[in-house]
Amino acid sequence: MIKRIRIIGIGMGDPDHVTGEAARALGTVDVFLVADKGETTADLVAARQAVCDALIPSDHAYRVVEVTDPRRSPDADRDPAAYGRRVRDWHAERVDAYADVIEMLPAEETTVGFLVWGDPALYDSTIRVVDALVERWAARGVTVDHDVIAGISAPQLLAARHRIPLNRIGAPVHITTGRRLVDEFDPGLGDVVVMLDGHLACSALVNGYPDLELCWGAYLGSADELLVRGRLADVIDEVRRVRAEARERHGWIMDTYLLRQPADAPTTSHVGPAFTPFPLSIEWEPLGDGVVALRPLDAADWEVVRAEHNNEESLRWGFDGEALTEAAARQKAAEAPREWRRGRVARFVIVDVASGERAGVLMVMRMGPPGVGLVGYGVVPGFRGRGFTTRALRLVAAWAFTHTDLERLELGHKVGNVASGRAAERAGFIAEGRLSGRLPNPDGTRSDEVTYALIRPSRALTESHRVE
Ligand SMILES: C[S@@+](CC[C@H](N)C(=O)[O-])C[C@H]1O[C@@H](n2cnc3c(N)ncnc32)[C@H](O)[C@@H]1O
Repeated sequence: MIKRIRIIGIGMGDPDHVTGEAARALGTVDVFLVADKGETTADLVAARQAVCDALIPSDHAYRVVEVTDPRRSPDADRDPAAYGRRVRDWHAERVDAYADVIEMLPAEETTVGFLVWGDPALYDSTIRVVDALVERWAARGVTVDHDVIAGISAPQLLAARHRIPLNRIGAPVHITTGRRLVDEFDPGLGDVVVMLDGHLACSALVNGYPDLELCWGAYLGSADELLVRGRLADVIDEVRRVRAEARERHGWIMDTYLLRQPADAPTTSHVGPAFTPFPLSIEWEPLGDGVVALRPLDAADWEVVRAEHNNEESLRWGFDGEALTEAAARQKAAEAPREWRRGRVARFVIVDVASGERAGVLMVMRMGPPGVGLVGYGVVPGFRGRGFTTRALRLVAAWAFTHTDLERLELGHKVGNVASGRAAERAGFIAEGRLSGRLPNPDGTRSDEVTYALIRPSRALTESHRVE
């Protein structure tokens, strides 16, 4: 009867790659359960058997039971949600298949082992399957102990074979799959390890990032190990050819690769426009006029972000009438300091000085030509009608024209939202025009937008501004 399940990482199939801890664990298992995935991975089943033969003491009796893996249909053209659902169903079927086998074990077989290729923590569902089994038995009052023993994973062996670290100094490393690579790739990710890639997805990155270094490896740890390394644009054809030939020879292929940033590449992303970071001096020089104060918004301010959005007035003037969820409000607030540092958006909290309460939010977003900032704002219902918006707009304009490179602030409101326009005009913004059907309404119609601008004072009266 089952008492213990051991999930044992066996590396890439070479007994020399099995850790001492894993080797000792192998010798404690009565029954190994191995997924039978059909003909294509017969070589891998043989490699697992070789590990057992080499490392399990000859006087220890054990059995290997093959459990037929439920079939999983090809997933190439499925959308991510359907893919996720299908994988979850497939896991449930696997749990059932293993439970059926384990519950039939004779009384003297108490320790079951799962041999996991590489490391159980990386792109392997055994831990999830065993968690589900253990929970299922716990619900029936049966306690089954389980542990996980680490193994050498494909990325580790890849790095060792190429004699490289996986990351540049102090930079991150991102591990992903072939099906996600192109959507996710960004130089800001650092070096990228790609696994489970049936189609060499990095081919699609050659034009955009020809200078990436590709460190590719297949059948790592086996006698047929293959390695190719070089500048992505230079070696991609070779990898394609070597890969196709090897797949033809073996009938299957397992490969992993690392896309390395060139050694002198900056560690931050340069995707999208580069901005001058907004100044941080604001943190120790609070902006205020005695009635309201502005300070940079951060993660702790998520409730005012939500309150400013989720009220009848704001939803009516908004674009889609959708309330902001707590998760979305938390995320928006949490991202604010990073956006500030990137120089894209400066988000502020409007604080009521008398009570110290958060009265609203205000942002300046760099948009359009250089030197132009788009201003957006909103005060929560309890603080409306007290001139807070006008005060906050005056403060932010003074800040923008003193501490940043912004030359022109713009804002706009739906044509019927006269209160918003009045607050802007009192703060010195000048109405400039009306843009037809620019802003969507919750009911699917569109409204005209009235636009305003405020120019940096020293330039407001120069000839060039007066001419047009
Ligand atoms: C289901 S994941 C299992 C990963 C495994 N748990 C590990 O720690 O490496 C299978 C993927 O691992 C990589 N992989 C596994 N064995 C490999 C090998 N011998 N050589 C190269 N890549 C391998 C391939 O990217 C393959 O698509």
